[in-house]
Formats: sequence, structure tokens, C-alpha cells
Amino acid sequence: MRTQVGIIGAGPAGLLLSHLLHLRGVSSVVLERRSRAYVEGRVRAGVLEQGTVETLVEAGVGERLRREGLPHHGIELRYGGRGHRIAFEELVPGRTITVYGQQEVVKDLIAARLEAGGDVRFEVEDVALHDLDGEPYLTFGGERLACDVIAGCDGFHGVSRLSVPEGVLTFHERDYPFAWLGVLARVAPSSDELIYSRTERGFALHSMRTPEISRFYLQVPPDATAGEWPDERVWAELKARLETVPGFTLATGEILEKAVTPMRGFVTEPMQYGRLYLAGDAAHIVPPTGAKGLNLAVADVRVLTEALDRFFSTGSADLLDGYSAACLRRVWRAQHFSWWMTTLLHTFDSDDAYGRRLQLSYLDYVTSSRAAATTLAENYVGLP
Ligand code: FAD
Ligand code: PHB
Repeated sequence: MRTQVGIIGAGPAGLLLSHLLHLRGVSSVVLERRSRAYVEGRVRAGVLEQGTVETLVEAGVGERLRREGLPHHGIELRYGGRGHRIAFEELVPGRTITVYGQQEVVKDLIAARLEAGGDVRFEVEDVALHDLDGEPYLTFGGERLACDVIAGCDGFHGVSRLSVPEGVLTFHERDYPFAWLGVLARVAPSSDELIYSRTERGFALHSMRTPEISRFYLQVPPDATAGEWPDERVWAELKARLETVPGFTLATGEILEKAVTPMRGFVTEPMQYGRLYLAGDAAHIVPPTGAKGLNLAVADVRVLTEALDRFFSTGSADLLDGYSAACLRRVWRAQHFSWWMTTLLHTFDSDDAYGRRLQLSYLDYVTSSRAAATTLAENYVGLP
């Protein structure tokens, strides 16, 4: 078997890459170790930058996104007994975000790939990468797939990054001393916009998926498990951290899903080796406070598509050679923004009273200075 681009992972990065390459006449095979039902059901991100929406629409997979996605024109920072709106329409006119579940993006991409006759294989076992600096090929479940190029889109726990000889790549990492408990609930959102709430009990986020489904996150200890958080405890804590302004009541309902996510920043440099190119979480992850992970994956894929198109249509590898450098500027900006949002809004056990006052003072600055609020807004909606 032979293909031009062997893609490992059917997350947003791998599926979108396969689809964009198809539109440029480049063949690919996607190998995914989980089942289709599993990847379509995995609840993760929800905030799409405008550039991400434009990419999906241009790729022809934006029809349901346009219909069901919820455009948002601001977010609220809640602390010290007050809510402060970061108004995108005023600070970054014409730019918005769209709330649309990552698993809906994945469903739309899988449907588009299959409709176009794309080769996406689920429940593929033991994918291994070979001869990355020569004539690359993949093996899996007793089969062999020769490729001109391999795209490692297999997320943070994938096999691609680990297949590069030791010492070639540099890894930059920061662990945070807390995790997020993510909760999906069948209840109408209690707010029209996302609420990022900083309290002395820890951080909480009120997000949403549809007019009937809400999404919440709670800062929890790094070793917390979902089992330690029965539904009553989740609602009590969400109320304690969100009902902190006069007149706001949190509506409660059936909890559909609960999971703990560690908080980590991680960057691989460079994002390529030989004929292997890493994209999305396989190359870098951010703490989710800035809502950047999925958007970075889409940005990598845009750059990689151009580079591969050039390579296959002209034989020139110049854009491929510059792939990592072209991506890392955005990656590091997103790392900084995500670190900044995280430290602004979470409680750190190591902080003394002085540190907490500094954090509140900074929040006051961000919510009262137009320049500081614009910095937040332009990074949140996504830099061009
Ligand atoms: P993944 O989605 O991880 O896909 C990788 C795929 O590769 C998976 O399907 C996996 O099963 C497969 N795979 C792994 N190993 C192998 C193997 N050996 N062989 C074959 N297949 C393999 N980002 C945002 O932009 N906005 C948000 O609001 C946001 N919120 C988040 C909230 C949470 C709770 C979490 C966990 C993440 C959030 N993110 C957010 C981050 C976002 O979900 C990720 O950045 C995004 O999933 C990255 O996509 P990807 O395709 O690179 O990787
Ligand atoms: C989400 O809706 O899942 C979400 C929203 C904002 C974030 C992270 C996750 O910062």
C-alpha cells in the first residue's frame, strides 16, 4: 500500500489535514487507534476562533457549524463580587468567537471525509513509524503503508513524537499545581456569555454547548479524580464559585459527563524530523484557560497543507523545511497567553496574601484599562 501522506490520528488535526489535502488533490490515509464512536463522543474544546471557523467553512465543513454554532461577542471576568465584561465588539471590532463542540467538528470532518471517499481507518492497532529520514513507511495491524511524508497528528499521548531518535527534539514543559474537572450538564446556560470566575475557593468556568446543554470547569487538586466529585458536590462548588455577584443564580440539571484534565504547557522544538511533521497536540499543548489548543491545531494544519501542496505540485521542499519555524511563533504566543490567563484566574497554594493582592490588582488593571483589555480580547479571539 502506498499514499502521499500517512496521517496518524483522527482528531481535529488529522481529519482536517486529510480533508484539506484532498481538496488540493493530495492523497492520504488516516490511521486512528480508537473507534469512530469514541472519537465522535469525546467531549473537549468548545471555543473556535474566527480563523478556525473560516478555515472550516472554506473547507466545506462549516454548514452545521454556521447553523448551530453560537457566535459570542464578549466574555465575563468575575471576581471580587463583580462581573466585568470584555467586549469584543468594542475592543476588536468585527472579530468574534464561536462556541461549537469539538466533537461536532470531528463528526462533521469524518462525514465529509467518508462522503468524499477518504480512507480513514478506525481501531487500528500498533501503529509504528519507520525510516523517517529516508523512505518513510508505517506499519499497523500486520499491514505496511509506504508514504512520501508522515503527519503525526496523534495528540499528546501519541506515538509520533516518541518515534524521533532521542536528543533530536527539545521539549519545553510547565506543569501547573492543579487540574480541571470538566462537567457537561443537561441544563440551559445561566448566562449568554462565558464566565471566567476567580474566587478564593479556586477558579470556575461557565461555558455552554447548545441552548439546552451547559459546560463547566472547576479548578481541582492535580491528583483529583472524577469519583471524588459526586453530582451534589459539583453543583455546590459551582454555585459557591459562580454565584458571587448579586442576582446571579446557577441553574442545575442532570450531569452527563465528568472528567479531570491535567493542566500543562508543552512545546516540541522543532516540530519536524526528516519526513515526519508533527501538528496539534502531538507537538504542543496549552492549559485550556485561553481556549487555544484546538485553534492551534487548525493553524498548524493550515501551514502544513500549504507546504505539502507546494511539495507535491512543484517538488520544492522549501515550505516544508520552514514548517516548524512558521508554526512556532504562534505556538509560543498562545503558550504565553494561556499561561497568563491561567495565572490571572487560578488560586495557587504557594501564593501568600501579597501574591493574591497582586493578582487582584492585575485583574483590576485588565478590566479597567482599555489597552490591557484589548490585549486579552485580541489574543482570545485569535491573532491573524
Ligand atoms: P487529539 O484531539 O488529541 O487527536 C489525536 C488523535 O490521535 C486521537 O483521536 C487519538 O485517539 C489518536 N491517537 C493517539 N495515539 C495514537 C496512535 N498511537 N495510533 C493511532 N491514533 C492515535 N482547545 C481549544 O481550542 N478551545 C477550548 O475551548 C479547549 N478546551 C479544552 C478542554 C479540555 C477539557 C481539553 C482536554 C482540551 C481542550 N482544548 C481546547 C484542547 C483541544 O481539545 C486539543 O488541543 C485538540 O483536541 C487537539 O487536536 P489534535 O487533533 O491535535 O489531537
Ligand atoms: C469549553 O467550552 O469547553 C471551553 C471554553 C473556554 C475555555 C476552555 C474550554 O477556556
